[in-house]
Amino acid sequence: MGTESYGTSQAKGLWGWINARLPLDKMLKEHVTEYYAPKNFNYWYLFGSLSLVVLVIQLVTGIFLTMNYKPAAAEAFASVEYIMRDVEWGWLIRYLHSTGASAFFIVVYLHMFRALMYGSYRSPRELLWIFGMLIYLCLMAEAFMGYLLPWGNMSYWGAQVIVSLFGTIPVIGDSLSEWIKGDYYISDITLNRFFALHVIAIPLILVFLVVAHILALHEVGSNNPDGIEIKKNKGPDGHPVDGIPFHPYMTVKDIFGLGMFLLVFCGIVFFAPTFGGMFLEAPNFDQANPMQTPPHIAPVWYFTPFYAMLRAVPSFAGTQVWGVIVMFGAIALLFFLPWLDRSPVKSIRYKGAITKVALALFVVSFVVLAYCGMKPPSPVLLLASRVFTAVYFAFFLLMPWYSKIDSTKPVPERVTYHAH
Ligand code: HEM
Repeated sequence: MGTESYGTSQAKGLWGWINARLPLDKMLKEHVTEYYAPKNFNYWYLFGSLSLVVLVIQLVTGIFLTMNYKPAAAEAFASVEYIMRDVEWGWLIRYLHSTGASAFFIVVYLHMFRALMYGSYRSPRELLWIFGMLIYLCLMAEAFMGYLLPWGNMSYWGAQVIVSLFGTIPVIGDSLSEWIKGDYYISDITLNRFFALHVIAIPLILVFLVVAHILALHEVGSNNPDGIEIKKNKGPDGHPVDGIPFHPYMTVKDIFGLGMFLLVFCGIVFFAPTFGGMFLEAPNFDQANPMQTPPHIAPVWYFTPFYAMLRAVPSFAGTQVWGVIVMFGAIALLFFLPWLDRSPVKSIRYKGAITKVALALFVVSFVVLAYCGMKPPSPVLLLASRVFTAVYFAFFLLMPWYSKIDSTKPVPERVTYHAH
């Protein structure tokens, strides 16, 4: 074949021929075998890889679902029943996809929480964080549109509620919600366009963003539980003294974690696919009925913290727009985190008590709001939603102040690592 000398790879044969034309060896080196990851990674660092795995599960099962699903109001519900009952292994493909949606949010929320703990959003990783937030927005849009597709009664009414939120925007609201629906109500037309967006447009953007996310990470290098920049301390070989090659060290660790994850994931898929009505809601086993609202409309659990915030804000002068602003504001604030945190140290390990309490309260507020958003409204839950919406916002808005005045511990020169 004789053309290997063009490229930088030493490989011979077919692999060498390919590498002379496409730098696969170089890319594998840069991103896998010679990507130096901090040696003190703990299991919080598993959730990025798991997000990738769940993304692949969703893409593959989604392709197979599409082979038998019919994106039309008259046929969608029955086509899902057909997948569940008549298509070979159809029930498994559908349950993998529906459970995968919830699993996606579980691993991504844990992944984001890790970043909050260790200050991974801080300089020089701001862009990486912003790509992450854009991924999160895409995931929400993807989940929302996918939820309409089975054309169950909760799909229908859930979409009705969410799209009507856009209608609260002054001046353009009505035209905007009509434009989203493509009709005066949620109809066959809406289902068709949500299908197009769910199966191709958003997944394409998502995959692009994930590639950008990982490239941005590998440009600056990973943070770690100590929040120390390992690239600042390199050995004579030019590699960080506290870094170890991603492959084989982290791949082995990730494969073990993946095994644990799959045990839990498959347990849910095979034994509790509705997860007590949290992953697949009861009203969605009835076909969409524009004449009958479900007794209690609530989105799937991963949206409920924001839904609780929406319901916590009273409507002023007959408009719910303030609730909508609060709800979207809660997500928008996350984008600004790199600039809100003024602490001289990155990791929670070296931050003081105020920051630790603030982070704990933030987690409590997120969980309580998620619970409030799932349940039918009541005076007690309304009060809880209001208090914890305030706590959620205080976590961000007061951060420039408390992160600055809080005490810190000295950060060591080298990462903390005890060989087992
Ligand atoms: C499809 C969704 C996502 C995928 C596949 C993904 C993938 C990854 C991977 C493979 C890593 C390196 C391993 C690790 O640090 O865990 C990583 C790191 C990171 N991700 Fe994501 N991610 C996703 C969503 C997000 C979101 C929603 C955010 C935040 C808004 C985010 C923020 C970060 C940050 C800050 C890091 C660097 C962490 C560090 O070095 O300490 N990611 N991501």
